[in-house]
Amino acid sequence: MRFLLINGPNLNTLGKRRPEVYGSLALGEIEERVAQRGAELGIEVRPFQSNHEGAIIDFIQAEAEQARAIIINPGALTHYGLSLRDALEGCGLPFIEVHLSNIHAREPFRRRSVMADIAQGQIAGQGWRGYILALEALAALVGEGS
Ligand code: DQA
Repeated sequence: MRFLLINGPNLNTLGKRRPEVYGSLALGEIEERVAQRGAELGIEVRPFQSNHEGAIIDFIQAEAEQARAIIINPGALTHYGLSLRDALEGCGLPFIEVHLSNIHAREPFRRRSVMADIAQGQIAGQGWRGYILALEALAALVGEGS
């Protein structure tokens, strides 16, 4: 079983960018930890990061048929990425929106997500562990159906 692990704009700079907000782990280290937990659960985790909304949409369209669920931190696209929302909705896979920081405790523009209402759920403010929580929740969800 394969899950997609998608990170949006600027998340390639994790570890360097505002570590007091986003933590000190680099994206590669987070991806490794998620892949490791995935392996324990029998899930292959396919990571992808892009600073471009269209590239993320292309990735979803190319990969969704071979995957069962999506873990996604859309970065700032969370707040305005309607094309990404449409792609997520269109692919039909359950997804969980992850945010390292608690977006509800920050600037007002970060509190609104244009995709949370079509997500299985949202995990915010748990740092890198939020990705693990999303993986475990989605594994339980898709496991239930099989
Ligand atoms: C973020 C929160 C967004 O508002 C921000 O634009 C990011 C990271 C988070 O993980 O907390 O790039 O998604």
